[in-house]
Amino acid sequence: MEAIETRYRTQTCGQLRQSDVGKTVKLAGWVHSYRDHGGLVFVDLRDRDGITQLVFDPDTCGQLVHEESRRLRSEFVISISGKITARSAEALNKKIPTGEIEIHVQTMDLLSAAATPPFTPDEHESINEERRLEYRYIDLRRPEMSQTLRTRYRVSKIMRDYLGERGFWEIETPFLTKSTPEGSRDFIVPSRLVPGSFYALPQSPQLFKQILMVGGVDKYMQIVRCFRDEDPRADRQAEFTQLDVEMSFIDKENIIAIIEGLLRTIWKEILGVEIPDPIPHMDYDEAVNRYGTDRPDLRFGMELMDVTDLAHTTDFGVFKSAAMVKCIRVPGGAKLTRKETDALADWSKGYGAKGLAVSKVTATGLDTGIAKFLSGIAPALIGRMEAKEGDLLCFAADQPGVVHKVLGELRLKMARDLKLEPSTPWAWVWVVNFPLLDWDAEEKKWNAVHHPFTSPRDEDMSNLSNRDQGVLSSLKSKAYDIVLNGYELGGGSIRIHRMDIQQEIFSILGINPEQQKLRFGFLLDALKFGAPPHGGLALGLDRIVMLLRGTSNIRDVIAFPKTQSGADLMCGSPSELDEKQLRETHIRLSLAPKPATT
Ligand code: AMO
Ligand code: AMP
Repeated sequence: MEAIETRYRTQTCGQLRQSDVGKTVKLAGWVHSYRDHGGLVFVDLRDRDGITQLVFDPDTCGQLVHEESRRLRSEFVISISGKITARSAEALNKKIPTGEIEIHVQTMDLLSAAATPPFTPDEHESINEERRLEYRYIDLRRPEMSQTLRTRYRVSKIMRDYLGERGFWEIETPFLTKSTPEGSRDFIVPSRLVPGSFYALPQSPQLFKQILMVGGVDKYMQIVRCFRDEDPRADRQAEFTQLDVEMSFIDKENIIAIIEGLLRTIWKEILGVEIPDPIPHMDYDEAVNRYGTDRPDLRFGMELMDVTDLAHTTDFGVFKSAAMVKCIRVPGGAKLTRKETDALADWSKGYGAKGLAVSKVTATGLDTGIAKFLSGIAPALIGRMEAKEGDLLCFAADQPGVVHKVLGELRLKMARDLKLEPSTPWAWVWVVNFPLLDWDAEEKKWNAVHHPFTSPRDEDMSNLSNRDQGVLSSLKSKAYDIVLNGYELGGGSIRIHRMDIQQEIFSILGINPEQQKLRFGFLLDALKFGAPPHGGLALGLDRIVMLLRGTSNIRDVIAFPKTQSGADLMCGSPSELDEKQLRETHIRLSLAPKPATT
């Protein structure tokens, strides 16, 4: 960073090098650390750009400033002027870019004293996250945090530049709006002017961007906040940011090419890393069958192998009667103890499995666990699994949904627990040919796999009036997801641009004509008045920055994130409203009594 010259500073704390020796400069920042050696006081001065060592020598700064420097403490804010000198050979610090120089201070202004901070930026690893979030302004002073915010800014700038150069316009869409069905709950905002009415905060700008296409905008982009009232997770926040994109007169291949080009530019400019060209595609069915999920982490093997045919020939009750039995081979997994493999079976129950059968591969065949039931099929099993001595075979037997869920999660857990070496640092894949619909057995209704505005494939259009369960579940959509290292970075689709087809899909989803008019009348109207074929996608900006920064915690890449319970610990939201605000928004509370605390 180049400093903008002000009365407080001429340079930043990360900027000065050997070649600057002899110059007189002004720096401003926070006292990162100080060492009082009696005669000399050393201070590491920090700003977002780096750290520079200051030396307070009474011969250079005078007795008064020297005395003052002895009263400096952590996180005091000062501005100094002084002369850059080369450090002696034994005082060089190779760990920081300014480590060859130091500044002999001449004058100092104490700009702001600091109370003893609850922690210093250096201590963050030993400080629990809640405390860091409560005092986020101190946490943000950490070099890692400022690096992350810089990366985040650079990524959004690349997005704007890349798409801007290709004719995309950034257009803002409303935050006070109507429900947008993206599969989550809405955050709602009461209306003061229309008693008893509410706005919903957008789960995404989906309908507005489609209507922009009907409005002739042609190419739209927006870096936009989305709001989903779902439980936060490691890679999920209730309030997060998308790069939202939509284009007219395109096919799936066109949008995929644009987004790949953008991702390629981001990875190249931020990390200097080349992305495969083109990124491979994988069918949804293949992803689920081989990896148990539609966002496969392809850095590891451990593919799910179907062994139902072999399992049905054994005397193991669980296997014989199961609809599906699949197996993964965990390389080196035989070193897990009995206690550890028993714990896996318990863990698997959290994913709906009834258990997890395991068997270790030895020099002579299979051993431990359910080996006694497998003797008849051991050679065939070892052959199919390409198992080697020291491997662990893990089996799940159940309905396909459960088998895929549990083994898909087990792959990831084993890769983590056994610290398996990834075959590549970056495994990219487009997942394509998603099913259009998903049957919700509990609610007895169809849901859209992507969202209700996603176009069926051309060859499936003629089957939309068919209400046969088998036919509907076989329909595929023009949806696509971009997946990196097991994270869904983004998803999109070609949309329905014909009103009759949109109505048909609503009807399959159980939205009757009256509700269609109430909830989506404006969309259906828009489609009636000349809608171009269009499609798009949204990338999760937070997830992109997470991956670029090598963190698995989304809160690390958001300046002011919320905790697992949806709280902002710094400003104390959510909070209660006062009587006047409740009255003005026509709200009367009816809360269940708080449970008594003992
Ligand atoms: P989708 O719901 O798949 O699609 O969202 C797109 C991308 O947004 C990111 N994302 C999230 N990131 C953090 N926290 C969350 N709670 C969260 N939810 C989603 C993911 C995801 O891939 N309107 C469609 C896009 C389209 O069809 O064009 C949509 O919102 O990285
Ligand atoms: P049980 O007969 O229930 O004691 O189970 C014997 C072994 O099979 C245990 O290791 C269980 O964890 C495992 N097991 C039970 N049910 C299943 C299942 N549906 N799929 C895979 N393994 C199972």
